[in-house]
Formats: sequence, structure tokens, C-alpha cells
Amino acid sequence: MLLKDIKHIFHQELDSQYGTEEVSHFFYYFVESYLGLPRFHLAIHPQWIITKEDESLFFEGLAALKQGKPIQYILGTTSFMDLILTVNEDVLIPRPETEGLVQWVLNDCQKSESNIKILDIGTGSGCIAIALAKNLHQAEVSAIDISKEALEVAKQNAKNNKVSVLFKNADVRDMDISEENYDIIVSNPPYVLEREKAIMQDHVKNSEPSLALFVPDTQPLLYYEYLAKLAQKALKEGGVLYLEINEIFGKEVSDLLKEHSFTNIEIQQDLHGKDRFIKGTSLVQ
Ligand SMILES: C[S@@+](CC[C@H](N)C(=O)[O-])C[C@H]1O[C@@H](n2cnc3c(N)ncnc32)[C@H](O)[C@@H]1O
Repeated sequence: MLLKDIKHIFHQELDSQYGTEEVSHFFYYFVESYLGLPRFHLAIHPQWIITKEDESLFFEGLAALKQGKPIQYILGTTSFMDLILTVNEDVLIPRPETEGLVQWVLNDCQKSESNIKILDIGTGSGCIAIALAKNLHQAEVSAIDISKEALEVAKQNAKNNKVSVLFKNADVRDMDISEENYDIIVSNPPYVLEREKAIMQDHVKNSEPSLALFVPDTQPLLYYEYLAKLAQKALKEGGVLYLEINEIFGKEVSDLLKEHSFTNIEIQQDLHGKDRFIKGTSLVQ
């Protein structure tokens, strides 16, 4: 079959669901991923023919897109900062916003030359921990998640990206960490309210793990309470806690950190100008 005919079918079948521009992106991601060809290939070779086997891959991909499956899960990979990461339905697809959280840690750490100990809580695909380990050669990075399945993906990602991260299966709600002495704790915990489901895109709420996303409407700060308590014990004096937050709770999380004796609290905005990250320093006695 001609590749251009498949492109035509993609537009016919999917434009009303996703819009023409998005469908073109999907098609070219498949061209790159399934055929190993650059996206401009079709422009240079308009009569390009693909094998029956490749044809089935495109049609399977098309069917999955029609069902609303995110392209990252269909292809099994995504990019995050300078990394290529494996993803499946056991892990949240890393968001571009979260790169801002990593970048904040990296900017602050550029000045530090000594060995630093970092803990990432709720690591998912491992994106934060792996990006930090890749860019901070002097750091010793550990990461935890409650999901054993997510940790399998994270371990594979660390291996593929040739970094060393110590992954542990643990629950932030009952983690015994009194022995530890971290310079930095970072987390992008679940923070989407159940009631926000109504305004979320179907492919997010139907495909991504609920455990990674949602908190009850009545307890929006649930994970921040555990994280603040834990970080208070586990950070060295002068150590820093970095968190991604729901944009509507910047003030509340800031107050919570103050209650737990954090100082120098700062909020930063994401690429859309929304309050998205907060950091606080563990009190120097
Ligand atoms: C919003 S996702 C973040 C994943 C990844 N760090 C990222 O930024 O893409 C939250 C993660 O927290 C994990 N998680 C949820 N409840 C947890 C708990 N009680 N203890 C530890 N991890 C938890 C989920 O499995 C999920 O991987």
C-alpha cells in the first residue's frame, strides 16, 4: 500500500476527533517510529510503498488512537528533557511542565560541588530521578513509588539511560526514613481533584493510572501533608524540598510548609504562567 494512502485514511478517520494538525503529527510519529524514516520522507518519495507488516502496524495504531489511547502508550516511548523514556499504562506520561521542576533543582545545584543525596517520591516512569542523575554526576539519587509495576518501568528507564538510581517500593504515608539525611527531596505527587475529572480530556482520565493523578476533593493536600512531615525528618538542616503543585493551591501548600518549619518558601510558574512548583528550605536550627 502507498504510504500517502495511509496518511489519507488517518485524516479521514481521525480529523474529527483530534483535528488535522494533531493527526498529521500522529502520522509522522508513526512514520519515524515504525518505519525509521524521517518525517519529510513522504514529501520526497510520494509513491513510497510499505510492506503488509508495516501496514498492519499503522492500522493497529489508528485503531488505538480512535479508542482514545495516548500516542505515547501506543508507541511505548516519550521524551523528557534530554531523555527517551519507556512508558506503559502503569506509569503517568511525564508532562513538559515537570521539566520545569527538574530545571529548578538543576539551576540551584549548579553551585554545589559536593556530593548530594536526592530522593524522588512517587517516581512513576523515573523521569525526575533519572533526569537529575543524568545531569548531576556528583549526586546519589534514590526514588520510591507505591506501585511495583511503575518501579519496573523506572528501573528499565534508568538502565536504558545509563544512570544509577536506587529504586525502592514504599508508601509515602508510612515510610520510615529517620535514618536518612537528604540534601534534596523532590516530588510530583497526585494532586488532581476528583471533581476536576469532568474537565479533563478522556484519554488522560481513561488511560493513565488513577493512583498517579487523583486526590479526594475533601483532601486536596493529602500528599503534601505526608511529604512535608517526611521531609522535615529526612532532610538535612538547610536541605530543600521541591514540589509540583495544583495551581489552585499555591497559598495552601505554602502555609503547610511554613507550619512544618520550612523557610525561604518560593513558588514558580509553569510554561503556561500557572503556579506549579514550590520549594522550601528545612530550618537551620
Ligand atoms: C503524578 S505521578 C508522578 C510520576 C512522575 N514522578 C512524573 O512526574 O511523571 C505520582 C506518582 O506517585 C505514586 N504514588 C501514589 N501514591 C503513592 C504513595 N502513597 N506512596 C508513594 N508513591 C505514591 C504513583 O504511583 C505515581 O507514580
